[in-house]
Parts: sequence; structure tokens; C-alpha cells
Amino acid sequence: MHELITKRRSIRAFSDKEISKENMQAILEAASWAPSSMNEQPWRYIYAFRGTAGFDTIWNCLVPSNQSWADKAAVLMVSVAEKTFVRNGKPNRHYMHDTGLANENLIIQAISMDIYAHPMGGFNMDMTREVLQLREDEEVVCFIALGYKGDPNALEEPNRTRETEERTRKNIDEISKDIS
Ligand SMILES: Cc1cc2nc3c(=O)[nH]c(=O)nc-3n(C[C@H](O)[C@H](O)[C@H](O)COP(=O)(O)O)c2cc1C
Repeated sequence: MHELITKRRSIRAFSDKEISKENMQAILEAASWAPSSMNEQPWRYIYAFRGTAGFDTIWNCLVPSNQSWADKAAVLMVSVAEKTFVRNGKPNRHYMHDTGLANENLIIQAISMDIYAHPMGGFNMDMTREVLQLREDEEVVCFIALGYKGDPNALEEPNRTRETEERTRKNIDEISKDIS
């Protein structure tokens, strides 16, 4: 497998190193080059650097278990998707899928620059919609914490143990079937 695939990991221990604006641009541009149905590009990203009011706004929307480590992230992002095609106002049934593709592009670009990106589904949906003033047509897909690798010993349990645990995956036979 490619080294970027094996290196990527949803870490929780971030160092205090900041992410530059230039690196954030590269990460967002990688997301923008994902494929999408009718080239709709339904993904939108709302993000903030640590130490800003915007960062606190996003962090406040996370569930406590995520707040406990995500406060050390260099950047917090909210991945949002538009649910209808701009061209004709019809529902785009691929909006979640396509935004997921953009998110993985973003994650892989990030790891190529030693920046780890950790997606999170643990957040308060109503609060997020309200504080970010999302339209009816927009859906929150996930939050993403970004940062450079830090010291796992700085984490509280159970995250400290989880950080270095061997990761597991289903067997290839469980997720695929050759019907040739
Ligand atoms: C949509 C989504 C939601 C997730 N939600 C959380 C979360 O709320 N908190 C968390 O710590 N990790 C969360 N994760 C990370 C997963 O737990 C992680 O990807 C999985 O355990 C595999 O580990 P790996 O990414 O290190 O390979 C989420 C991942 C995805 C893709």
C-alpha cells in the first residue's frame, strides 16, 4: 500500500505546532479536486485556527469526549454539504458520498505534509447548525481536527492507551467479492 494510506491515523495527541495558512490552502485545494456527481462539488468547509474565537465556537459544539483532546488541535474544521444541485434545485443524492471523497482527499493531502486529520461524528447537531447559521439546504457531515503529532503520554486515559493500540480492519474477503 501507499505510504500515505498506512501513515494516516486518527490521532488524538497533537503537538502545539501551528499549521500555516499556506498548508491550509493546500489541504483545501486537495479537497476541491475530489470527483463529484455532475461536478457539483457540494462540500463546504468552515474552519478556525487554535487561539481564535472561531476555534472556540467550533470546539464548543463537540461532545465532551471529543472536547477533551480536540482543544489541542491546530485547526478545527466543520465539513458541510449542500443537499441540492445548484443548476436545477433538484436533490443531489450523492452529497454525502461526494463530500466524503473530498474529506479523504483533504486527509491524505494533510498526512503528506505530516499533518494528521481526525474526523469526528460526535458533535451537537442543533448547536452547530445554529452557531454556524447553516441554511436548510446544508447538512453537517462531520468535524475534523487537524494538527501535528504530539506526545501520547499527554493524553488522559482511555485515550492514552487507544493512541498507541494496534489498529484492526476487516479481512478483504469480508468487504469484497470477486464475481468474475
Ligand atoms: C464519520 C466519522 C466519525 C467519527 N467520529 C469520531 C468521534 O466522534 N470521536 C473520535 O475520537 N473518533 C471518531 N472517528 C474516528 C474513528 O474512530 C476512526 O477513524 C476509526 O477508529 C479507525 O481508526 P483510524 O482512523 O486511526 O484508522 C470518526 C471517524 C469518522 C470517519
